[in-house]
Amino acid sequence: MSQLRSVIRGCGAYLPERILTNQDLAKLIDTTDQWITERTGIKQRHIAAEGELTSAMGTAAARQALKHAGIDAQDIDLIVLATSTPDQTFPATAVTIQAELGITHGAAFDLQAVCSGFVFALTTADNFLKGGQFKRALVIGAEAFSRILDWQDRSTCVLFGDGAGAVVVEAQMLNGAATDRGILATCLRSDGRYRDKLFVDGGPSSTGTVGHVRMDGPEVFRHAVTKISEVIDATLAQAGHKASDIDWFVPHQANKRILDGAAKKLGLDPERIIVTVDKHANTSAASIPLALSTACGDGRIKQGDLVLMEAMGGGFTWGAVLIRW
Ligand code: UT7
Repeated sequence: MSQLRSVIRGCGAYLPERILTNQDLAKLIDTTDQWITERTGIKQRHIAAEGELTSAMGTAAARQALKHAGIDAQDIDLIVLATSTPDQTFPATAVTIQAELGITHGAAFDLQAVCSGFVFALTTADNFLKGGQFKRALVIGAEAFSRILDWQDRSTCVLFGDGAGAVVVEAQMLNGAATDRGILATCLRSDGRYRDKLFVDGGPSSTGTVGHVRMDGPEVFRHAVTKISEVIDATLAQAGHKASDIDWFVPHQANKRILDGAAKKLGLDPERIIVTVDKHANTSAASIPLALSTACGDGRIKQGDLVLMEAMGGGFTWGAVLIRW
């Protein structure tokens, strides 16, 4: 039976020019390259220049995704931006990106699910496209996380980086075959009882300030692999697939030990995991689209491949998306 499917048409990325290595950090705070590498797999991160905004990074990634898709900005009628580091409290940073792209029709809004933001944004766009309300969406993850880090807190500041990634998603009427392209299954979860395990200690209605990232790292780590595995199982079951069907596993890039743990539970060959955490660190909502863009750019992810994404972050929020590329 024919059905509307959300098909990925292209992807793009943007990374700020400045690279901050672990060795650079060791000169600023009490840490070592060895500690960061062993505990997280991170070797370096990109840092936005002064005055370089989340909207600018998101726009650059969106332009590259449009180019890759061969689609004109005027053909986009929905922009969903996942970010925890908007340019301003309001308006949504998505409308700045919309204006930068010269789009005056359709809708653009921000979505906040911290590190799970891209998975939540893609699922949101998928539902709008499948429902027939919009035809083509730009789903973007963009973060200037360096702006909300406490650079004196070595337990958090070594973990994050800045950047943006984007995908163009198009509603296509397909014939319902098992080999059809598009988003096959999505699964989102949150549990606010854990909201104080990873948070920012400021905000418009509380302190009137932007605040800094605070995290109980070991507690987040303790929940990560179990929660991620549960949502992956639910997503695969929804689509009638097994872990062994997966061509590429594109996890949120927080910590190499968490990626490896989730992949091991799935029984996946390490060659099938897309890893960018070593070069980008944790870019929150930008990490999955940055990894997708890397793996599409170097020819690993190809049309027809089965791609599984997952993320977990502040809230807690977590989720997974399964796509036939
Ligand atoms: O994307 C959203 C989700 N976020 C995550 O997924 C992060 C999840 N958590 C983690 O990845 C890990 O918990 C961390 C990488 C954050 C920390 O690793 P850990 O193995 O859990 O270390 P720990 O926090 O238990 O700290 C161990 C030791 C402590 O010293 P003592 O008390 O044992 O003497 C820390 O003070 O490591 C110390 N430490 C550091 N040492 C050198 C903490 N940060 C650093 C540092 N450099 N940057």
